Amino acid sequence: MEIRRVGGPIRGLMMSGVEGGGGGGPISRFNKMTIRDLAGQLAGKRVLVRVDFNVSDPKTGEIKSDTRIKAALPTINFLRGQGAVVILASHNERPKDLIKSLMAEGMDKTTARRVTFQRLSLKKAAWRLGELMRDKVLLLTSISPEDPINPDILPWVSCLAPGSVSLLENTRFYEGDEKGDMELARKIVDSTGAQIFVMDGFSAAHRGHASVTGVAKVIQERGGVAVAGDLLQKEIEYLGKKLIESPARPYVALMGGAKVADKMKIIDNLLENVDALVIGGAMIYPFLRAKSEKMGVDPLGRSEAEIAGDIEAARRILTGPHYEKIILPYRLVMADNRIKDVDPTELISLLLSRINGRYGTPGTIVWNGPFGQVEVAPYDRGTTALLGYISGQNQQGAVTITGGGDTEKAIKVAMKAGVDVRFSHISTGGGAMLELLEGKELPGIAVLNNR
Ligand code: 3PG
Ligand code: MG
Repeated sequence: MEIRRVGGPIRGLMMSGVEGGGGGGPISRFNKMTIRDLAGQLAGKRVLVRVDFNVSDPKTGEIKSDTRIKAALPTINFLRGQGAVVILASHNERPKDLIKSLMAEGMDKTTARRVTFQRLSLKKAAWRLGELMRDKVLLLTSISPEDPINPDILPWVSCLAPGSVSLLENTRFYEGDEKGDMELARKIVDSTGAQIFVMDGFSAAHRGHASVTGVAKVIQERGGVAVAGDLLQKEIEYLGKKLIESPARPYVALMGGAKVADKMKIIDNLLENVDALVIGGAMIYPFLRAKSEKMGVDPLGRSEAEIAGDIEAARRILTGPHYEKIILPYRLVMADNRIKDVDPTELISLLLSRINGRYGTPGTIVWNGPFGQVEVAPYDRGTTALLGYISGQNQQGAVTITGGGDTEKAIKVAMKAGVDVRFSHISTGGGAMLELLEGKELPGIAVLNNR
């Protein structure tokens, strides 16, 4: 067991739980130190918490959804309760992309930068967090928008009281963030005086950026620890342990949505682990094409050249060793010569016969991406039926897990249609969750101190 000590005298950093994997079993790569391991040792400590407050709509600068802000509250409240000085850091959207698109619309560079700094500021997120906490949140920003995190902050941070909460301005206002620049990471740690790092932004854990892994390493180099917050720990419990390490069987994955090329990569790895994989939505198209079945044109409107890779991947999967695990709905709802949805009645009887009939009630279900165009009625009926099935299995004892941006939308639609939607865990991660399912190691988790 490796325990690194934090700058000041932190005593008794003995962790409960299993040492070195325990009982000679394999050491879990998900067995990370958490904030709970530091209980009683945080008073007066400056704790840098990487959250994911990537919540703004780049077109308006308004908050799209405060789900991620709410999800960070348990960690923030715990740290405050322990008397820590809480300093939050987050990126917000992709400033570089916004500057580019504003310039493409004819704006000059100086104005485009100014507009971007305004729209993608974390000011509104700080405000919303303050409302939720019913307390003030200080936004730590320098006078110059060119340099929103700099050592000027230091005097502020040194006078922050234990139990206070502040938020650094959007870390992506610095170019070095996405490059994983260690100079920037050092600057953040120096300017905040952070002694402990807490990773709580699961949805950014697949980014090896300065504000994720960089700051963790700097703090560790200086003798501090980098640990998981409550949200990250919950994600690790469900996605890492219950899905990847030891899923209850039968284990069923349901994969729909757009981003077809990204998901093809995941399927390879998923097929190694699951007992059945149901394909839905626009994902169906390349599979049908691989089987030489004509079903209109690509639902996402891509050209033949653009979908060639997906069709090839589908062919490889269908002729691979796990092809029998693939379940492809065959009654499809078409409009404008495109697949719009899967037929809900056929979908349910297919799931009941090919999954429950063959293997019994699922032990684990993971779902990602709608099975039809949920935002346009009546093409939401397949997904609504699917959510009814998943929720029913949950009531029978299945661990049901989902995540990703389109998920929230689909769940709302199904609830409106009267489905009592039940998930054991709704992940805050989109890309991060998919990378985990793809079998990748997430740098923002890997960097944390092991138990
Ligand atoms: C997300 O919204 O998926 C995360 O905040 C990560 O954002 P990114 O894809 O811009 O790194
Ligand atoms: Mg986004």
